[in-house]
Amino acid sequence: MHLSGQKPFLHEIGCDLHVHVLPGIDDGSPDLMESMQILEAHYEAGIRRVIATPHIRSDFFQNTRQTIYDAWALLHEQALQRWPDLRLTYAAEHFADDYLLQLIESDKLLPLFDRYVLIETSMRVEQPYFMEIVERLIEKNWKPVLAHPERYRPWHQKPDRYAQLREMQVIFQVNLLSLGGMYGAPEQRMAEQLIQKGWIGAVGTDLHRVSQFKYLRKAAQNPAYGRLCSVSLLNHQLLKHEARN
Ligand SMILES: [Fe+2]
Repeated sequence: MHLSGQKPFLHEIGCDLHVHVLPGIDDGSPDLMESMQILEAHYEAGIRRVIATPHIRSDFFQNTRQTIYDAWALLHEQALQRWPDLRLTYAAEHFADDYLLQLIESDKLLPLFDRYVLIETSMRVEQPYFMEIVERLIEKNWKPVLAHPERYRPWHQKPDRYAQLREMQVIFQVNLLSLGGMYGAPEQRMAEQLIQKGWIGAVGTDLHRVSQFKYLRKAAQNPAYGRLCSVSLLNHQLLKHEARN
């Protein structure tokens, strides 16, 4: 929904590079119908580029390139018929665990594009080897994009951790759902703080269900959203990269 004469509210973000839209393979969309509803909501909000990012983690979501490709192919076929100008590709949200280390060593990561890899860590406890895994990615010439830094509660009292990761050139990807208050006040506040500091370099929705879309509308009304749209984001870089190639 948008007022007449105004751009749809997600137009300036340009693309969603973190969303659990592939049907039936993680805790995201359960079926093709919901996946299509999620894409329809994106389309109406002004998004024409989506990177589906299912979880890959050894303890819960043992997805492989094949399981992700199969779910993508199913959705892509339907989506292309309905919205020929919507581009949908797949990548993964890699949990930083032993399995990710194996994928790094065997060169089997699923990047967002180019060398940019979306990673996440535990939101409840500090993972002991997280920094070492990030270092290994960088040694292997990957560019880590850290999903939802505002959601790692153990870091909320540790601003040094954010500074340290920034020094390592890790790109912080904020969730619009955080800015819209879906996870609670601490996550929303941290998202706002990271945006105000100019520390956010990428934006994703991290949508798992179409019913969560209302929080994206709330996010767009947050004053920090304007600030976010005014900086150079990986989202814009992706669109430029694809326009060139
Ligand atoms: Fe996610």
